[in-house]
Amino acid sequence: MNELFDTILPETIKKYLQTKTFGQKIFYSEETKSTNIDAKNLAKENASSGSLVIAETQGAGRGRLERKFFSPKGKGLWFSLILRPKFDIKDAPKCTLLAAVAVAAAMEEIGVKPEIKWPNDIMRGDKKLVGILTELVTLGAKDYAVIVGIGVNVNFAEEDFHEDIKNIATSLAIIKGENIERAKFLGRILCYFEKLYEKAETEGFGEVLNLWRKYSATLNKNIRVINAGDNSEITGRAVDIDESGALMVDTGGKIIKVLAGDVSVREMGN
Ligand code: BTN
Repeated sequence: MNELFDTILPETIKKYLQTKTFGQKIFYSEETKSTNIDAKNLAKENASSGSLVIAETQGAGRGRLERKFFSPKGKGLWFSLILRPKFDIKDAPKCTLLAAVAVAAAMEEIGVKPEIKWPNDIMRGDKKLVGILTELVTLGAKDYAVIVGIGVNVNFAEEDFHEDIKNIATSLAIIKGENIERAKFLGRILCYFEKLYEKAETEGFGEVLNLWRKYSATLNKNIRVINAGDNSEITGRAVDIDESGALMVDTGGKIIKVLAGDVSVREMGN
């Protein structure tokens, strides 16, 4: 019984699209190393903004901080969006927050409460459901593209996770107790993504930041952050994200701004 529960072929995805540009151009492959790598190459070849790069499985799915991302056939949504934003390149990293909020809104719609862990994981308790990897491609002196890679654990059963990640990963199907039609769910993500992105281009990221705060599982918690650069550690209370998306941590009177790192919520004294 190797039949897939559903398909993410372009014709199936198109049935569920309610967007102007997002996903209107689809680069599908049954198997690739990483949709982010493919998307970067396509961006260099001038692929249009909103193009969707999607694969049934990735042989070398990439995560943040050079980690691997497990992306087996039929179990999830492994895709990258190519964006050519009108906003300044300094705002491009906020596309990560935008992506997290778009997926969170689609999850809420199917009745799964989203918990965004700063900056960009979507969790259920301690277990990860969604990972996001945003990368920049410079295309000339002023021109650039943003590649937003999103991995959603959709139809995994407990036994589909490797031994080494089964305690730190979960899926929408496990939470809901039933499989989810991936193309339909993708259509909803792209719809939210396009609306928020258009708004960000015209009015800035205010709405994205507010929605991020609403879905956050990090704010107002006592946390420990391991700094991505030098592995140094700080503990304190996550009080807000600033206008750039950095996490503001109150370490006992002093507010520290964290730009990149791994956050864990401390069990005691939350
Ligand atoms: C993370 O959790 O560290 C980020 C994971 C991002 C995974 C997605 S799957 C689609 C796209 N292609 C990749 O190689 N990575 C992203």
